Amino acid sequence: MSTRVAAVSAPPAGTARTEAPPCAMVIFGASGDLTRRKLVPALYNLARGGLLPENFAALGFARRPWSDAAFREEMGRGVAEFSRLAPLDRACWERFGPQLEYAEGEFADPAAYARLAERLADLDQARGLAGNRLFYLAVPPTEFPTILHRLKAAGLIHPPDGGPWSRAIVEKPFGRDLESARALNALLARVLHESQTFRIDHYLGKETVQNILVFRFANSIFEPLWNRNYVEYVEICAAETIGVGTRGKFYEQTGVLRDLVQSHMLEVLSLTAMEPPTTGEADDIRSEKLKVLHALRVPWEDTMARDLVLGQYRGYRAEPDVAPDSVTPTYAALRVFVDNWRWQGVPFYLRTGKKLAKRVTEISLTMRPIPLCLFGRADVCDRIVPNVLTLRIQPDEGIALRFASKVPGLDLKVGTVAMDMSYRETFGGEPPEAYERLLLDAMRGDATLFSRRDAVEAAWAWITPILDFIERQPPGEFPNYEPGSWGPERALELMRRDRRAWREL
Ligand code: BG6
Repeated sequence: MSTRVAAVSAPPAGTARTEAPPCAMVIFGASGDLTRRKLVPALYNLARGGLLPENFAALGFARRPWSDAAFREEMGRGVAEFSRLAPLDRACWERFGPQLEYAEGEFADPAAYARLAERLADLDQARGLAGNRLFYLAVPPTEFPTILHRLKAAGLIHPPDGGPWSRAIVEKPFGRDLESARALNALLARVLHESQTFRIDHYLGKETVQNILVFRFANSIFEPLWNRNYVEYVEICAAETIGVGTRGKFYEQTGVLRDLVQSHMLEVLSLTAMEPPTTGEADDIRSEKLKVLHALRVPWEDTMARDLVLGQYRGYRAEPDVAPDSVTPTYAALRVFVDNWRWQGVPFYLRTGKKLAKRVTEISLTMRPIPLCLFGRADVCDRIVPNVLTLRIQPDEGIALRFASKVPGLDLKVGTVAMDMSYRETFGGEPPEAYERLLLDAMRGDATLFSRRDAVEAAWAWITPILDFIERQPPGEFPNYEPGSWGPERALELMRRDRRAWREL
């Protein structure tokens, strides 16, 4: 049984804080999927909302021999297919389309960067872009060194001295392990100041992920319960129904632990577990998240086999660009502990995977059971189940609280009900896409929703021993779950051992 709740007072959704300044955004890897599916549709949506600076240009850079017109046409198709604001608004496209430009070039060719510098200088003149540059590296990390060094050599990176700015957004996965992440960070630091570096994890741009902090720190009734005294355990689930599709090559290099756990899952875990920051400033928030990562218990070899279950869906090995004997995991379930005062002894169960039964991302806190049942009857007491607070990240975004209630009637009967807030019903409309928020923030120079160097390294420091362990002892029983199921049998064991079960989703 569920009770819907409505907004008591809500400001209009999506009001921007400050306008983004004039700038040029240069997208490296502009012929790739990300640009067509996410980046350009996000820019278009911003344009539709009047949030894109009027003096703006997005310049795609890639090897493909496209003209400006061909690039615009291709992006127009992407917008029509992937923008959340379908159908395409012709008037908006007439204004936005011409802001898209294309430059053909090899990432390693210095002459291409000299041409890029000239092109940007011309655009500055023609469109009043004030020399501000946002470089988006939508390329594999192996390309970062070449691109960054060439940009620097071509004089395209301004120092952070208050004049025209240069910033770079880099896509995940940010490295393969601790060592490579450190090397990548060191490389970035040679070319860019940390304040110019925006490591993107698109989960942080999701409305409901941002709401974790608002929910926790703008309500006085939940935070006092948000600790080991009241919380029995926490579940974080990110289940997908899709497989790897055409991304086999990428996925074979990453697998679920690098793709989802090291980044999205740990970001959500740190927002859920962090202490209140001193202020709402980017660095205060990021410092508190970092402390959680530092407090993550590093699994020992002997506990690893118990606290980690990996899976691979049947059919994965037949996906394009996947090895026929691949041992890359597409599913992971983990039991994790945060060793600090607030969370000591509270297990965090994480599970994520591809080709699962349902697409759902959520965090749920199961509260401690009542200390004693006062109703003196087994048929009543047995029906009292612990309270569960659920933050639904996607889809059907919302927040639900499960509690016990007397069922109306002359007899004493207890039922379980849920108070349920749905974003859609409460606020209406479609929330902005993660990339809209993140691109706008990067233009404004707000790094709150981007990962800081130390946090990225702390996340890798925790997960690298797990990756090493798997490399030494590759899982032998793959494939071990059916598409459309909830993952391998052994994942049920992980919960059963603690006399618990995964939440039914
Ligand atoms: C990406 C991963 O970062 O996130 C993908 O590389 C995954 O494998 C995707 O499918 C999930 O994001 P979302 O926003 O669809 O939940």
